Amino acid sequence: MNDTSLLEFSGIDMRFPGVHALKNVSFEVKEGEVHALLGANGAGKSTLIKILARVYQQTDGEIFLNGKSLNAATAQNIRQYGIDFIFQELELVSSFTVAQNVLLGDEVTKGALLNHREMSKKAQETLDQLIPGFIDARSLARDLTVAQQQLVCIARSLYRNPKILVLDEPTSRLSSSEVDALFSVIDRLKKERNITAIYISHRLEEIYRIADALTVLRDGEKVVTCKVNEITTKEIIRSMMGKEIDVTKKMENLAPGYGEKPALEVRGLSDGKTFGPIDFDVFKGEVFCITGAVGSGKTELIETIFGLRKAASGTLKINGKDWVPKSPLHAKNRKLSLVPEDRRLNGVVYDFSVRKNISLVSLKKLSRFGFVVSVKKEKEVAQKLVEELSIKTAGLETASKFLSGGNQQKVVFAKWLVGNSEIYFFDEPTVGIDVKGKEEIYEIIHGLAKEGKSVIVTTSDFDEALRASTRIMVLFAGKEKGLLDSETAVKDELLLLTMGGKVNE
Ligand SMILES: Nc1ncnc2c1ncn2[C@@H]1O[C@H](COP(=O)(O)OP(=O)(O)OP(=O)(O)O)[C@@H](O)[C@H]1O
Ligand SMILES: [Mg+2]
Repeated sequence: MNDTSLLEFSGIDMRFPGVHALKNVSFEVKEGEVHALLGANGAGKSTLIKILARVYQQTDGEIFLNGKSLNAATAQNIRQYGIDFIFQELELVSSFTVAQNVLLGDEVTKGALLNHREMSKKAQETLDQLIPGFIDARSLARDLTVAQQQLVCIARSLYRNPKILVLDEPTSRLSSSEVDALFSVIDRLKKERNITAIYISHRLEEIYRIADALTVLRDGEKVVTCKVNEITTKEIIRSMMGKEIDVTKKMENLAPGYGEKPALEVRGLSDGKTFGPIDFDVFKGEVFCITGAVGSGKTELIETIFGLRKAASGTLKINGKDWVPKSPLHAKNRKLSLVPEDRRLNGVVYDFSVRKNISLVSLKKLSRFGFVVSVKKEKEVAQKLVEELSIKTAGLETASKFLSGGNQQKVVFAKWLVGNSEIYFFDEPTVGIDVKGKEEIYEIIHGLAKEGKSVIVTTSDFDEALRASTRIMVLFAGKEKGLLDSETAVKDELLLLTMGGKVNE
């Protein structure tokens, strides 16, 4: 790293209809540094990097690369300037193989045909640099989990060998061991090739591990640019949020009657391939956390209980009565709710307004008298949730696609809360959500538990598991590796278990 400015944002201003997303933002990124870009949901981070990517044309201001204006660059040719992007919305061609996705635009051909063997070999090498043997380059993108897709996007950018790599929340779907793998690759690229990176994340502890410098945006304005060792976490949070937020408060247990009666009993459950057989109980008033590395089977497990996947063996009971899930609708009628992990596919309807998205699940409830849903009622419910979760939107009628990534996540979260369920499944509920939003979501989850509902949360974030739950089940390769009490569990223990180790070994 040296002191030359490689990239300079100078007075960047961006207006969308009704939203002033960036206000006169200026800062420099030095050659060879990892520069973190921080800010609350909707602060303008993705907008800024999309301007760098030339996806958006700024309203005012200029970006300089090595002192030269980037104004002439286009979204089509920006890679020729040595800049590559991993966007927040994972952009894989689902019908292509992993290899085709990794080499997109750099395809190897044999005559007029793709040389699949050569492509698979090259892609596999790049993928194995991240996590050896974890993803088969020949598989189809649509068969991958969200975390695997994220890794493929990372591999694709690495393959292109850029001078500047921009990563918009690359770790939001990864657990500790995959994050470590990514960070060692970035470290190596820095040392060997003096690569420069712009790094966006809501996981602040990562900033101290990977970044050299940082810039904080708040409501579209730059608040601070400094070296990472010149600022504390507390100060970062204050500059992002404009106030201090306690991020250490643990969940206070427990609902009356907790531990007496299981709401959900799982025995010998298996889908025959990714997980099982597994046994556990979840009590009323409990927040039961399931954690584990990518590929450990967390998502598959809860999706099977919910009826999104078929069980191969095992039995389930809800409130002591047999439960044989047939479909998500069947589950919903049995008062189960699931907030899915892949919110892009299963979550928001992009063209629907925030109001419509929130009321989607509860339409039936709102229209129980047989009349058409009253827009007034819909509005009331939506407005309440928008406030409770501080969803940043120009209005209730704004189409969801215009919201920032984190705010879209909040809309999905809100949408599943409106129904009145007994058992809630949240698959990675705080992915992409800022520090304040996380606290709001924990409050809501705890509120449900206090009402005597059961909440099952999958998370790859250990801090979240420890803070927000009553008990933590760790999965490794589809099997239970440990069941810990969140009061007494510690991070190292979780890490060890998720990697397949045994405590006290
Ligand atoms: N295409 C668009 N049209 C209208 N408004 C937009 C558009 N893209 C972004 N915005 C608005 O600009 C603001 C900044 O959004 P941006 O996506 O840059 O936030 P962010 O900092 O990346 O947040 P997050 O952490 O949630 O991803 C938000 O208020 C958002 O609603
Ligand atoms: Mg964003």
